[in-house]
Amino acid sequence: MTSQDLNTPHGGILKELLVEPRRKLSHSVRWELTPRQYADLEMIAIGAYSPLETFMGKSDYFSVIDSMHLTDGTLWPIPIVFQFHSDQIDQGAKCLELTRDSERVATLEIEEIFKLDLELEASRIYGTTSGDHPGVSILYSGGDRAVTGRLSIHAAILGYEGPEYLTPAQTRKVFKERNWKSVAAFQTRNPVHRAHEYLHKIALEVVDGLFLNPLVGQTKSDDVPVPARMAAYSVLLDGYYPSDRTLLGVYPAAMRYAGPKEAILHAISRKNYGCTHFIVGRDHAGVGSYYSTYAAQEIFDTIPSGELGIHILKFEHSFYCSLCHQVASKRTCPHGTEFHLSLSGTKVRELLSSGKELPPEFSRPEVAEVLRRAYQS
Ligand code: ADX
Repeated sequence: MTSQDLNTPHGGILKELLVEPRRKLSHSVRWELTPRQYADLEMIAIGAYSPLETFMGKSDYFSVIDSMHLTDGTLWPIPIVFQFHSDQIDQGAKCLELTRDSERVATLEIEEIFKLDLELEASRIYGTTSGDHPGVSILYSGGDRAVTGRLSIHAAILGYEGPEYLTPAQTRKVFKERNWKSVAAFQTRNPVHRAHEYLHKIALEVVDGLFLNPLVGQTKSDDVPVPARMAAYSVLLDGYYPSDRTLLGVYPAAMRYAGPKEAILHAISRKNYGCTHFIVGRDHAGVGSYYSTYAAQEIFDTIPSGELGIHILKFEHSFYCSLCHQVASKRTCPHGTEFHLSLSGTKVRELLSSGKELPPEFSRPEVAEVLRRAYQS
């Protein structure tokens, strides 16, 4: 059995970029990566964005915007481009030496420079041209040019250090060692709460393994910081999850808040990690009221069968019901909304930042304590 047997990577082959020595190239320009660029580079390097081997060129960029596919016909929902402002890179530059904290990590040999259509991208990908949308705001601030070419990596690209750092090749190995034939991935950018746990536990009833995959790349400034989220997961897993059926590993991508389109990207990349199932609940990857509650589920119904290659586990909005004394959804609970406490990352953040206690209906006491301490400090 090869590492690809669990679920074939998107496009057929896991495209990891191996670390290679730096070659001497003339006309090179140093470029300090933005957090978004670093996260995208990392996702490409570790194979999580297979089949991409570099940032997209002009034809793939417009093909993805127009048709949600790369020019070779592979399903792909969101442009992954290396953006810059026209005055930032010299006409004569032949290559970019990509740095992080001034350390050289990769080289991009320039093959193509092209103009982006930021408003078109915003409206087709994010469903809005408003600069108030946090993903669109980052898009608008990045410049209207993009560059692509051969990418070579010279150092491990690591946006997170810790035992929970696992590349797609590594998770595939773990799944195989544990003999999991079906694995459900869970994307999250928020501190874990009881509705999340409800989704996890239901998934565990139907698949062999659960891959908890919190996003640790760039998020908006009011999202809860990574160390607090990871500490919350740690105490929860220690006390309440079967360790032989659960794996915690970070997802280094940047958050785009693109709702439905981002849900597809999340699903495709979890397929690269070897997962067979992907959990999509209410307002997945959403922000504010830009997307309807189930838009990120409905978009999967528009994808021709066979193109996605990962099974979507769709969940209704879950809440705590004070008569059921447990988390439920309207599929399982007969009581009126007056008995329902709505659970969301936004609510958890609001309570934490105003110094209020997280009620036990929201979070397990151990999780509430970890988050309370993180917010105090
Ligand atoms: S997200 O931006 O990563 O989607 P979050 O971490 O809050 O945000 O959500 C992680 C996953 O849990 C998503 O699939 C989301 O749809 C789902 N989810 C979060 N809260 C609920 C809830 N109350 N009911 C159902 N699904 C939920």
